[in-house]
Amino acid sequence: MSITTRPYVNERHWLGSMRLNFQHFFMGRIVGHLLHPNIKLDKSDLHIIDLGAGTGIWAQELATELPSASIYAVDISDEQFPPEKWRTPNVSFAAFDCLKPFPEEYLGRFDVVNVRAWLTIVNDDNKDPVLENFLTLLKPGGYIQWFEPLPLTAHTVARDNGQPTPGCDRLAKQWHKPAAHSSYDWVINLSRTFTEHNLEVIVDETLSTPDRYQPIATQSWLAGLQEYRYQEQGSQLEEYQKQLIQEAKAGAFVDVKYTLLVGRKCNKRKG
Ligand SMILES: C[S@@+](CC[C@H](N)C(=O)[O-])C[C@H]1O[C@@H](n2cnc3c(N)ncnc32)[C@H](O)[C@@H]1O
Repeated sequence: MSITTRPYVNERHWLGSMRLNFQHFFMGRIVGHLLHPNIKLDKSDLHIIDLGAGTGIWAQELATELPSASIYAVDISDEQFPPEKWRTPNVSFAAFDCLKPFPEEYLGRFDVVNVRAWLTIVNDDNKDPVLENFLTLLKPGGYIQWFEPLPLTAHTVARDNGQPTPGCDRLAKQWHKPAAHSSYDWVINLSRTFTEHNLEVIVDETLSTPDRYQPIATQSWLAGLQEYRYQEQGSQLEEYQKQLIQEAKAGAFVDVKYTLLVGRKCNKRKG
């Protein structure tokens, strides 16, 4: 597998990286850990891989917590990886399509596979082959940790005044159905899918955004809209952003819950 390094190429990637890093710290506070405490690891010779690693911030932070572990950060694109000299020494970065079979040397090698924010990549049709492919990475008894938003929980919350909230309502609607080709059944039923793939579900948590973080969540959606403005010059997104800001000032937000699952690969296949 080739490890390549390229500088950030344009403002849109910078904005995307800013949003992912911002979300990492914000969601990290909601989750409270990098690896769930129920993941029990023998601390020697650990191999941990983050799939769709984005900027690599989760991997870099975990590598600092576990300096003797070997951490791998893999993404289909190397555009958002940090410049080489800023990489934590025990993290290996690689550009690779995780929907394709992994290289031979990766198979059965990892104690933990981490997956975060694949909502728009996985869909109802491919969830089984995608999970099956990810599980080829795990040692027997290894863990997969998967964190996603639960899009159908998105709804407008307004504390005061009963004013209309067209911006928030539009955002909640976008959460409910951003893509034509898939429902969100796969994310709602991910725990069942884990079981069907011979995983023991050891963590199945639904996490809420504390009230004090609601403005931060809105700031994160605004950053996402700013990225799209690079694509759609002169579009109506500016108006939409202004609406969201005005509504946030008046105390209206879009509340979204999250799912955190940990599955453990059983040592033997079910009879
Ligand atoms: C929403 S970002 C999440 C990044 C990171 N997991 C995080 O939580 O900060 C999704 C990432 O998945 C990557 N990605 C998309 N399709 C992929 C694929 N087929 N194989 C590997 N990575 C992929 C994207 O390049 C992007 O960095």
